[in-house]
Amino acid sequence: MKSIASAPGKVILFGEHFIVYGVKAILCSINKRIVATSRLLDERKVKIRSVLGDAELDIDCLSELDAVTSRFMKPFFYIAKNALEDYGKDKGIEIVLESQIPAGIGLGSSSAACVAVTASVNGLFVRLSKQEVVKKAIEAERIIFKETPGADTSVSTFGGLMLYDPNSGFQEISSNNDLAFIIANSSQVHNTQEIVRQVRVFKEKNGNFFNQLCEKEAEIVNEALLALRKNDLKMLGLLMLKNQDLLQQIKVSTEKIDLLVREAKKTSYGAKLTGAGFGGCIISLVDNSNSATTVDNLKKISDCFPVKIDYQGLLYI
Ligand code: MEV
Repeated sequence: MKSIASAPGKVILFGEHFIVYGVKAILCSINKRIVATSRLLDERKVKIRSVLGDAELDIDCLSELDAVTSRFMKPFFYIAKNALEDYGKDKGIEIVLESQIPAGIGLGSSSAACVAVTASVNGLFVRLSKQEVVKKAIEAERIIFKETPGADTSVSTFGGLMLYDPNSGFQEISSNNDLAFIIANSSQVHNTQEIVRQVRVFKEKNGNFFNQLCEKEAEIVNEALLALRKNDLKMLGLLMLKNQDLLQQIKVSTEKIDLLVREAKKTSYGAKLTGAGFGGCIISLVDNSNSATTVDNLKKISDCFPVKIDYQGLLYI
């Protein structure tokens, strides 16, 4: 028997990094997915196959997750181990991951993978609700990224556009606009946890200044909520540029990202890096009037592709 689930990646419209310090963020899931397929094995092993490599461990060694060399795979072993224990099965599990989400560029591939794997592995025994999946997926992600506020995992599970408050969770934002973005990849792969650590060092050295930036970010998020309600793309684009300026100030932008933003600004409503930064990718806000020209312009200097909001979130297949 196979159990298959898929979950979307995400973009952060406003609030990355500042969310770690209590500021709310606005994010949406995108129409690029990861599919996880699980099946039970008679041998007591957990096997993982993915485009980023394969790994396997004996069930009896699963308490030693540190032995797993690939960091990004640790949460999947953890999810499989817990499920086998919870349902009292003396078996193994194979998990196969297929992805449309480029890894390591800020599009939430590792959170989407945690969501899809949690639903698929547990689905071998029982179909979990979205609430149950998100709880377990965040727990799994925290074994490699202790500080994650859980925003990426939440939007991947529930889908759509949301305001995420690190203190009280998410709130759906109803918008009658199917926001569209062009994503341009800087081709600089990043490590989210390392960048979050560097921002913490920056904050510790620049306490007052950092607090002021947090206040400015909170204002941007509030104005963006109003702009979304009014469907004001021009205002949203301007706010994205303001947000990019704050991200530059905390030093998570790069020359390549700045160049991409400058180019994207020429044709789109606005642009900014999305996710952890320090490479990764930018999003530029477009509609039918400027989507093609923005792609034409950006593809001269980077890989780029259009995305739209995904409203489904986690899907059992
Ligand atoms: C990563 O997509 C966004 C960060 O704010 C970290 C997080 O919220 O988990 C940098």
